[in-house]
Amino acid sequence: MDATALRMAGFIAGIGGPVLIAGLLATGTVSAQTGWDHTDIVGPDECAECHKAETEVWRGTHHFATFREMPRRREATEIARNMGLRRIKEGSLCLDCHFTTTQTRRGGPREAISGISCESCHGPAKDWVKVHSEYSGLKEGQETPQQISARWAASERAGMIRPGNMAAWARNCLSCHVVPQEDLVNRGGHPAGSAFELVSWSQGEIRHNVWYNDGRRNEQASVETQRKMFVIGRAVELEVALRAVGRATQRAEYAVEMAKRADTARRAVAQLARILDVGELAAMARAGQTAQLKLNNATALNRAADQVARATDQLADRYDGSSFGAIDRYLPQPAQYKGRPAR
Ligand code: HEC
Ligand code: HEC
Ligand code: HEC
Ligand code: HEC
Repeated sequence: MDATALRMAGFIAGIGGPVLIAGLLATGTVSAQTGWDHTDIVGPDECAECHKAETEVWRGTHHFATFREMPRRREATEIARNMGLRRIKEGSLCLDCHFTTTQTRRGGPREAISGISCESCHGPAKDWVKVHSEYSGLKEGQETPQQISARWAASERAGMIRPGNMAAWARNCLSCHVVPQEDLVNRGGHPAGSAFELVSWSQGEIRHNVWYNDGRRNEQASVETQRKMFVIGRAVELEVALRAVGRATQRAEYAVEMAKRADTARRAVAQLARILDVGELAAMARAGQTAQLKLNNATALNRAADQVARATDQLADRYDGSSFGAIDRYLPQPAQYKGRPAR
């Protein structure tokens, strides 16, 4: 594969005929944020009290605009009608990926309060919003290093997804950007996910690295971090796509598109494993080959995805990207970023 091919992997189907056999599989509808407790959502206005510059950036993104714009699109009405929904904000199907919702009690009705917002990516915040920001009850700069790490550990235990936990936030992006609902794609006519790549999709309009420099610049991720994003993005794509194929029950668009995704991702991971001497990548490439991309194969596909996930987490812990220089020529360039960064 040449440089462009690797960069485009995930965009283009370089597929050698995945095996697709008709059959039936009981699929639970696994939406992105389905497992979340929406009574724990505080809403973006609360974040804005301290994070003004980040909020300003967010207001310029598709994630913000989808709240108002998506329901007005003709395609949206068609998808909803195909799915038997009277209103887009009825039930949880569209809410899970296009909106931030609150709930006054678990299991109660959900109210859409904004588009995809801070907590959609950093986690429902009720239990961590105070602890992450209170400097352990001291003044800024007065905590011991132990107090600082205890504060962050407590925030993560309470559900905060921090920028440093790249595997977690990348999984979260892809839980929405690979649309793992067969019915929504086949019957609803919804796009079968995005042509997603972690560097180009996080460093364009989404980028809001404006906190630790008091809003002076919107800093690009360092080249080490970009390398790591490039690798983790491929690894998580493989994991999520294998699980998505595992939910395929019909020989139709969903199964074909998800099989292409998985096949492209495993080729990209295998290619990275040849370029970088990283045992975890070799393990992922092997795991990706242990399950056939066919209908009714959830058990084997989920087992393979679990192996990929373990190797991904280990890679994320062990490497910071400084030894990944061999992939620099494959990194997306600013002209390829998705949307323009603010500032
Ligand atoms: C009362 C002010 C305050 C509020 C409200 C607040 N934050 Fe923060 N936030 C902070 C402070 C202070 C820090 C930096 C702490 C430090 O430097 O150790 C921070 C840091 C962060 C970080 C960076 C974490 C890291 O690993 O470096 C994220 C992400 C974040 N906040 C998200 C949010 C979100 C999302 C909300 C709303 C749900 C929110 N914050 C609400 C004050 C606040
Ligand atoms: C699993 C997450 C997920 C679910 C569930 C979901 N969407 Fe989407 N939707 C997306 C993503 C991601 C995109 C962007 C696709 C791309 O990159 O082209 C999108 C794009 C769209 C678009 C085209 C872009 C736009 O905003 O106009 C429409 C319309 C849309 N969705 C409507 C719906 C409707 C209606 C529902 C509920 C019936 C729904 N979606 C459920 C993730 C989801
Ligand atoms: C809760 C679901 C969800 C999460 C989490 C999520 N996205 Fe999105 N994203 C969407 C949807 C839906 C759209 C399409 C919105 C529209 O156009 O109506 C979108 C659009 C985008 C766009 C604009 C695409 C375009 O067509 O220009 C970018 C860039 C993007 N997302 C990047 C990311 C990144 C990077 C992450 C993780 C850090 C992420 N997203 C996490 C649901 C999500
Ligand atoms: C699409 C997902 C997404 C959304 C929405 C989002 N964030 Fe982030 N946030 C991230 C990611 C990913 C990073 C790390 C990016 C990087 O390293 O380039 C980050 C980084 C941060 C940081 C650290 C910035 C720095 O200077 O290093 C803060 C603080 C933060 N986010 C707060 C917020 C707040 C507040 C909101 C809502 C206004 C928000 N985020 C919305 C995904 C998101």
